[in-house]
Amino acid sequence: MQAMQTDLISEELRNRFEGATRVLVLTGAGISAESGVPTFRGGGNTAVWKGMPFDVISSARMVERDLPAVWEWFDYRRSLLQTLQPNPAHYEIARWADLFPEFTLVTQNVDGLHRTAGSREVIELHGSVWRARCLSCRTSYEILPHEQRLANCAGCGSYLRPDVVLFGEMLPPGAFEAAAEAAAACELCFVIGTSALVYPAASLPEIAKAAGAYLCEVNPERTPLSAICDEVLTGKAGEVLPLIGKS
Ligand code: APR
Ligand code: ZN
Repeated sequence: MQAMQTDLISEELRNRFEGATRVLVLTGAGISAESGVPTFRGGGNTAVWKGMPFDVISSARMVERDLPAVWEWFDYRRSLLQTLQPNPAHYEIARWADLFPEFTLVTQNVDGLHRTAGSREVIELHGSVWRARCLSCRTSYEILPHEQRLANCAGCGSYLRPDVVLFGEMLPPGAFEAAAEAAAACELCFVIGTSALVYPAASLPEIAKAAGAYLCEVNPERTPLSAICDEVLTGKAGEVLPLIGKS
């Protein structure tokens, strides 16, 4: 198993990995699948809550209509997550941050597992289930595992909502712009565990490719992005990533 897998990585990718200065990594739900976090579409089991598809319960409209129901869904997700651990893919990416002078980690995940694995700088494009935000003054509050979360803003008293980008909402100000800038400047771009269907996140590898970066996808399944990749590593992130930096 080990030998065959190592050959999965091309000499080209090894050389570029060795010599790169500016590297961008974009991750999606698939990187957390081996930790037991359900994905949304491909590969792992799909999330439905009390008969409601995730894009209904996780929507701006539901915050207006029934904020307690939205919190119930996110409280459930946090209760699941606090029992789960990062997997080798998360730890490998945390290690990569110290290998390259300019390393940018962008995630679509709201599970916080990159931070738990030791990644200090993470552009969380879709927010985090470990934060709440005031509906009025937008102040955000950290939610700690195993602790009761605040219901109201300590500053203005308004209700708090999950600090997660819900369906029908824009990304947090500045997050995508910072990611797009790094994508346009990187030499090597890894796309790991995403179906590459949700924009604008899915445009980041396209920006990197158009700017001349070497594009490498890691996914057990093909995605709409596979066709423009320089290298497609078919497999699970937790098994494939530790092989990339190995000589
Ligand atoms: N390693 C790598 N990739 C995996 C693994 C694994 N072990 N298991 C599954 N995958 C792949 C699947 O093949 C699929 O292509 O991960 C991808 C998961 O795709 P989605 O469930 O669509 O997740 P993602 O791309 O992150 O979704 C984007 O959509 O629902 C919204 O806001 C939500 O951030 C999410 C966004
Ligand atoms: Zn407030």
